[in-house]
Amino acid sequence: MLSILLTSGLLAFVSAQSIPCGIPTVQPVTSRIVGGKEAVAGSWPYLGLVVDDLGFIAGSATVLGDHVLVTSAQHFEGPGFSVFDLDLKHWRVYLGEHNIHTADPNERYYHFSRVIVHPGFNISSLANDVALIITRETIQLNNNVRPVCLPDPSHQYTIGQVCYLPGWGSTSSTGNEEVLNQVDLPILADSVCQAHFPDFIPDGEVCAGYENGNKDFCGDDIGSPLLCKDLNGMWFIQGIASSGGNCTFANEPGVFEDVPRYTNWIKTTMEQAGYPYQY
Ligand SMILES: *[C@@H]1O[C@H](CO)[C@@H](O)[C@H](O)[C@H]1NC(C)=O
Ligand SMILES: *[C@@H]1O[C@H](CO)[C@@H](O)[C@H](O)[C@H]1NC(C)=O
Repeated sequence: MLSILLTSGLLAFVSAQSIPCGIPTVQPVTSRIVGGKEAVAGSWPYLGLVVDDLGFIAGSATVLGDHVLVTSAQHFEGPGFSVFDLDLKHWRVYLGEHNIHTADPNERYYHFSRVIVHPGFNISSLANDVALIITRETIQLNNNVRPVCLPDPSHQYTIGQVCYLPGWGSTSSTGNEEVLNQVDLPILADSVCQAHFPDFIPDGEVCAGYENGNKDFCGDDIGSPLLCKDLNGMWFIQGIASSGGNCTFANEPGVFEDVPRYTNWIKTTMEQAGYPYQY
């Protein structure tokens, strides 16, 4: 009995250590599609569904390590409320999730231990709309739950690169709202978002999507990652959905936090929390 326990403990340790960032075991569909589309189950293992203390979907978050996810700060601070007012011990994040109305074989939820909002977050301009969730339990990393790669701070995005936004947001009758959907969004020049949104912040945000394309994200997608593939075939988080999605008309691009600008803050904060980024 003792040796069985030791062996399985050792195996769990070895496999958690050898799980790479940004490599799914199920490949996502990356052919061009029209409108939102159901994602292949398990093809975005970095994605978590954030549920508040009343059981409502707050948005998405992205796994960075075995206790840490990154999301947008606006889930936790806004006009009239701050992270201190929320009953965070009753919030949860579901990982290995696909269909929100059924118990998927690989899904499991984790409680929040705490949330660290970027100290420069501005609730009116949405500057620095980044927060880290620290989970109470250790996240089990496996084939269905994996960390995403963080880009190097020097990484510059490429205008025209097609990236993907997975999320459970309302797909405004273009898709199935119960399952994880994905939409392909090309990165646009800052000037496109500046023309739509006078508040766009070129230094900390990245513009992606379409001005007239039937594809967009919705409110529940706030905090979802904009995922791009690097030259080595690894998926990294280029953006965090922050504002601009008009999913009813799909006539405006989306505004994302430009993650490389936050890589240093994320890594330092993870280290201070006791869970340094491993990759
Ligand atoms: C927050 O953003 C608003 C609107 O852009 C701006 O007027 C205000 O000065 C900002 N606050 C801080 C502390 O930077
Ligand atoms: C979406 O676009 C329509 C048409 O331009 C506009 O009337 C509406 O206010 C927009 N909604 C949001 C949330 O920006």
